[in-house]
Amino acid sequence: MDIKAIILAAGQGTRMHSKLPKVIHKIAGKPLVEHVVLLTQALTEQKPVVVIGHGADQVKEALLHLDVDFILQHEQLGTGHAIMMAKEHIAEDETILVLYGDTPLIDKKTLVDFIDYYNENNLDLSVLSMKVPDPTGYGRIVKESGKLNKIVEHKDADQNTLAIDEVNSGIYLMNSNQLLMHMHKIQNNNKQNEFYLTDIVEIFCQQGYNVDAYCIDDYTQMLGINNRVQLAEAEKIMRNRINLELMLSGVTIIDPNNTYVDSGVKVGKDTIIYPGSMIRCNSIIGESCEIGPRTVIENSIIDDEVTVKESQILNSRVGKRTKVGPYAYVRPGSNIGEEVKIGDFVEIKNSNIGNGTKISHLTYVGDGDVGEKVNLGCGVVFVNYDGVKKYRTKVGNDSFVGCNVNLVAPVEVSNDAYVAAGTTVTKDVPEGALAIGREKQKNIDGWVKRKRSRK
Ligand code: UD1
Ligand code: CA
Repeated sequence: MDIKAIILAAGQGTRMHSKLPKVIHKIAGKPLVEHVVLLTQALTEQKPVVVIGHGADQVKEALLHLDVDFILQHEQLGTGHAIMMAKEHIAEDETILVLYGDTPLIDKKTLVDFIDYYNENNLDLSVLSMKVPDPTGYGRIVKESGKLNKIVEHKDADQNTLAIDEVNSGIYLMNSNQLLMHMHKIQNNNKQNEFYLTDIVEIFCQQGYNVDAYCIDDYTQMLGINNRVQLAEAEKIMRNRINLELMLSGVTIIDPNNTYVDSGVKVGKDTIIYPGSMIRCNSIIGESCEIGPRTVIENSIIDDEVTVKESQILNSRVGKRTKVGPYAYVRPGSNIGEEVKIGDFVEIKNSNIGNGTKISHLTYVGDGDVGEKVNLGCGVVFVNYDGVKKYRTKVGNDSFVGCNVNLVAPVEVSNDAYVAAGTTVTKDVPEGALAIGREKQKNIDGWVKRKRSRK
């Protein structure tokens, strides 16, 4: 049977104490609910339905790049009510997979096994459950002669029920026909006056349907995130997983506890990541690179054999065998070629840098197009802003720009040209020429001695 996923993400998340709806808080760089959506997309071709409500526009916006259907739950009257809202998206003869948007750590393999178990046992409803060291807050799995009988929420549980350590993950598989037939029976006569989806278990049992819990060992997968403590816990678990996977695929991570790689990042083999580094968004790092220590790479593509030390690279591209840092800042829109050197205290913004060019120290390249094998000396400034507009500066191949030069844009230094140290360039420099624009030096003999004798 075809599987249709319904993801509940309409709750406010009161316990987060946040202006943002809970499900768009991030772990490993992605909103909680996005992790869940990606998971379902790996399991079924059918578009998932996401039930939104609190902060609906923000949640929608966070998922805009994904192919999902949204359902609005105007009032958040409980998880059971949320499913009722999704009714029109539930077709007959489907298997419905329900997940909660605040439970992002579940493993794909676990879900595949869960689905197999459901199918092999011809179940009408199955709940993914786990035994946890501290069941506080979770719905308890109540069994009768070994069979799942109902789920009792923490707030509604008596002492005996509270002692049960097998809990509900909030992930269910159900037969759509039976769900459609009986969902209206869910009531809100409980401590929270909410319509609990969990009540569907007892309702199915009363019909004599085939109901069971599928209990897994690794409880970290079902951590539901309700507060910032759990958010940090989940972050840690997911980062560990990402690092583990990278290491097993051939990446050296010197200190996995101090390395922060977002979900979706790719890193090639034999790359070494030093401590304190963050590789964020959808960055792609090539093979045999050295990244860090203390480096941030965000949404960037780094080719093979690149070294980036104690630097930041944002929304940019860096070519093969280039060396960046220490203490360099590559800002968005930069395209740096192969075998380039971007040295200490160099800032590059929205610029193209050709192959083999060297920018070794204390330089600002803003809105520049720098050719191949150029040498920019120490303290070169691309003066790109006149207080109103920004302009571009071009430096041709094989040119040499001396130390402490200002290139006042718009301006062009042609191929094979030289700019003398200390020059402020305000007009184009033709090919092969030397531009020199500074006061001629004079030496005043005996000046120091005369000054001192005046004291
Ligand atoms: C829920 C389960 C509990 C389970 C736990 C696992 C119920 C009644 N309880 O409790 O058995 O152990 O998850 O983490 O289901 N939501 C809506 N609309 C609503 C209310 C909630 O879409 O009206 C969404 C929330 O955005 C959230 C999810 O449903 O993503 C779960 O809601 P939450 O309030 O966090 O339920 P728990 O109390 O954690
Ligand atoms: Ca929850």
